Amino acid sequence: MSDKKLKIFVTRRWPEAAEDALRTHFEPTFNMSDVPLDKAALMDGFASHDIAAPTVSDKIDADIIAAGAKGNCQLIANYGVGVNHIDLAAAAAEAIPVTNTPGVLTDATADLTLTLMLVLCRRAGEGERELRAGEWSGWRPTHLVGRAMTGKRLGIIGMGRIGKAVARRAHFGFGMDICFYNRSPVGDVDDLKAVRMASVAEVCAVSDFVSLHCAASPDTYQILGTDALAALHDGAYVINTARGDVVDEAALVAALNAGTIGGAGLDVYQGEPDINPAILAARNTVLLPHLGSATVESRTAMGLKVVENANAFAAGQDLIDPVI
Ligand code: DGY
Repeated sequence: MSDKKLKIFVTRRWPEAAEDALRTHFEPTFNMSDVPLDKAALMDGFASHDIAAPTVSDKIDADIIAAGAKGNCQLIANYGVGVNHIDLAAAAAEAIPVTNTPGVLTDATADLTLTLMLVLCRRAGEGERELRAGEWSGWRPTHLVGRAMTGKRLGIIGMGRIGKAVARRAHFGFGMDICFYNRSPVGDVDDLKAVRMASVAEVCAVSDFVSLHCAASPDTYQILGTDALAALHDGAYVINTARGDVVDEAALVAALNAGTIGGAGLDVYQGEPDINPAILAARNTVLLPHLGSATVESRTAMGLKVVENANAFAAGQDLIDPVI
């Protein structure tokens, strides 16, 4: 490779420290408006740069990848761990490798999962809204009484890095029993005394909270569906900080409105940022705008991971976080 800096196309703005790190090593083009680029702009950006760094808010389909392959694009270094927004088969067919940013957003996402669990079961969102509306009439024994989290059972769907980090917080911090569903056997959970179940429905049948942490893929599409939701008891809570596609939203809304589950804490949605109005109207929900990794520490580290992978590519070395 020559000393000339490679050109990298960054589809959104990053935290300043990460943008600075990128500038040190590459010739970046940032999307200064920081609004999602349309397909034509993505095709153009992919074609005219050596490396593309998209993120979850971009839909990188086969046309965009083909445009990149026809032009200069030799690496897709995704800013984020989830890659369900990228047509991986198309990238593989064009022999363009894809990397992601695992590890550096585990703690932030696990923390936000616990936030949703607590805000939901302790009715903190309702309380804050009531107080700000000037509707709080004072303390009384029956006011906004929620449910305890301590000592309850948490079911985890997808016991990868983030699932384990949530389980550790819940077990050691809140004395929760842990059970989980994971397609393949899982190591590193003996100290949690976590019980592996054979199906999502079995996890739901015994859990007070069910939290989704699997990657979105055709295999996990609506993995929490009607049958699994029907297995939950009427005080159980569903938490989703993974991807909207792993939950059957229509079935979730039906269960919420019928009162067959206790509530839902959601950070991700099918078709986000458009939210199904039925979700907005459903009873007993806490809804956040995809904030799982939103700490300055994680979002900076995600950018630095892109830089590391791009540096490895530029040096002709093995990629650090290859997806394909
Ligand atoms: C990811 O990295 O996939 C997250 O969803 C972004 O926060």
